[in-house]
Amino acid sequence: MNTLLSRANSLFAFSLSVMAALTFGCFVSTTFKDRSIPVDIRVSKVMLKNVDDFTGPRERSDLSFLVFDVSADLRPIFDWNVKQLFLYLSAEYATKNNALNQVVLWDKIVLRGGETKLKLRESKPEYLFFDDGNGLRSNKNITLTLSWNVVPNAGILPLVMGSGHVSIPFPDSYDTYKSY
Ligand SMILES: *[C@@H]1O[C@H](CO)[C@@H](O)[C@H](O)[C@H]1NC(C)=O
Repeated sequence: MNTLLSRANSLFAFSLSVMAALTFGCFVSTTFKDRSIPVDIRVSKVMLKNVDDFTGPRERSDLSFLVFDVSADLRPIFDWNVKQLFLYLSAEYATKNNALNQVVLWDKIVLRGGETKLKLRESKPEYLFFDDGNGLRSNKNITLTLSWNVVPNAGILPLVMGSGHVSIPFPDSYDTYKSY
């Protein structure tokens, strides 16, 4: 009695454990992989403005306009466990008030099977690069880095920083472009 049902049941249990084992294998085989790649970042021009800031306690804050290039070959990051990448370019710098400020300037989602050559030329940030004070003018070390979150098919989600970044000194005056 019920042999059909019990067979179906054991077949189901078997397939389930095979699938679990495969998923686990997928996770194990890709989790500890190094997903860092070389990234080339350049800044060609920066201009600062000192503008009214209605959000903060200060009356005027620094706003930066910059022009940058980024290139990287994302192909080595992709393998069978990578569904998509969330890339973002951020600026990091220190000010009197904060030891570390981080501002995201640009981001992009790259799907598996999509274009893996990242080539930005003479690009402008998608998001405003505001400081909450006057920490950009004459800042000697503003560092731009490209990082990415890996969205996997199975397992954890590593956050990876590219192995390339650029550090530049910002202009000493407002309203004129500084070239690099
Ligand atoms: C510039 O800042 C970055 C990180 O924000 C740091 O790693 C680097 O050492 C700094 N460079 C200098 C010359 O201070």
